[in-house]
Amino acid sequence: MRKRIVAGNWKMNTLLKDGMELAKAVEKLEKEKTSDALMIIAPPYTHLSRIKELIQGVKLSAQNCSSAEEGAYTGEVSPDMLKSVGVEYVILGHSERRAYYGEDNELLNRKTKLALSKGLKPIFCCGEVLEEREGGKLFDVIREQITVGLKDLSIEDMAKVVIAYEPVWAIGTGVVASPEQAQEMHKFIRGLLVELFNDEVADNMTILYGGSCKPSNAAELFANPDVDGGLIGGASLKAEDFLGIVNAY
Ligand code: PGA
Repeated sequence: MRKRIVAGNWKMNTLLKDGMELAKAVEKLEKEKTSDALMIIAPPYTHLSRIKELIQGVKLSAQNCSSAEEGAYTGEVSPDMLKSVGVEYVILGHSERRAYYGEDNELLNRKTKLALSKGLKPIFCCGEVLEEREGGKLFDVIREQITVGLKDLSIEDMAKVVIAYEPVWAIGTGVVASPEQAQEMHKFIRGLLVELFNDEVADNMTILYGGSCKPSNAAELFANPDVDGGLIGGASLKAEDFLGIVNAY
């Protein structure tokens, strides 16, 4: 049975005090959830060690990590540093990292491998921009992102990876993918995993949908057989909305 997950990507939002309040509220609501989905929050780096002390049922993720182990890399945060403050997951390859910070598939492959070697579980993001979808290139783009991004990972590594499909045109736009569009791509990704790895990896892979997911549209997205949860941006900044999405199962 694959895990169901709802992860909140806070992005560059909340000051420490507000972030701590939000984490506390999410932890409190976690005890009231009516679904078996695992709840993960990904606050900014500066909040991680303080928030770790406030949560138990809710799991902790970073939004990024360095591709280097340690040393002269000003401004970077290593996987070991994240581990040392109790971080369990790390979001890699978010479209904002790809678009604004030039993170390409090769770099993301190095980050993914390093994170795994240090005991972090990557939430590996992929997604096409609108022109790629309209130009009929969407499956080629996702194939490339996953094939290169997850290159040389072992079967054991893959058991620790979560994939998030986030069509870029749906992120922060209020335009959500239709349940059919989400299912079509998630099914494609699972098929690709059979090709690249094996049936077991594909069957067990948690594939999240991300992009304008809200309590009002989560149920129809999650009803699809290949959609195993969500990566939530805006709606994860309100504890009740975040719980509403979790309870949409
Ligand atoms: P959104 O963001 O839910 O605000 O669209 C999703 C994401 O970027 O992970």
